[in-house]
Amino acid sequence: MDDGIFNVSRRGVLAGGVASVAIGQASVALAQEAEDGRPAGDVERMNVDLTVNGTAHSLDLDTRTTLLDTLREHLRLTGTKKGCDHGQCGACTVLVNGERVNSCLSLAVMHQGDQVTTIEGLGQPGNLHPMQDAFVEHDGYQCGYCTPGQICSAVATLAEIRKGIPSHVTEDLTGPMRATNMEMRERMSGNICRCGAYSNIADAMAQVAAADGQGG
Ligand code: FES
Ligand code: FES
Repeated sequence: MDDGIFNVSRRGVLAGGVASVAIGQASVALAQEAEDGRPAGDVERMNVDLTVNGTAHSLDLDTRTTLLDTLREHLRLTGTKKGCDHGQCGACTVLVNGERVNSCLSLAVMHQGDQVTTIEGLGQPGNLHPMQDAFVEHDGYQCGYCTPGQICSAVATLAEIRKGIPSHVTEDLTGPMRATNMEMRERMSGNICRCGAYSNIADAMAQVAAADGQGG
């Protein structure tokens, strides 16, 4: 029996498939263009006002820019590190209005008017923040890549405990909250250190907590 038009080669099927995907993408792009009046591929930009380490900045940004890339690429504050870029390592932790955030998971446009503190804003050589001093004293880093995020997170952790914000391991939700080893380890669990400086980081934090009257 003559199978006529059904006699198509595998190569022909694949070529046809590629062509139809390309056409599909083109029609999606055209549909997007028709919907909002902008050419497909056009970048949406927005002005974002941020105060970083006490300095006001007004930035014209692609709306897809993360806070992390804003700090590193636009403001040249490279103390904040990009580890995973997926919210899994904590290397990019900064303080926004006093609370810690993973800056790789946060778009800059979400922070209009916010106050951001990076490791550069906590302290400088010769005038270190007590947590930076304690990390040095207790050898809380090895390669140092995770350290800016660890220190920002550690500062915010003690502030959370001071405010009485509970964690998963807080046993007494009504009594005074203490910076116990378990409390600090639980709260710091989003900050990964490949070098394994965890015990020394915990010692550094315990020293700052004790000096602050929060010791466990
Ligand atoms: S770089 Fe943001 S959590 Fe890893
Ligand atoms: S000190 Fe190297 S990753 Fe933490």
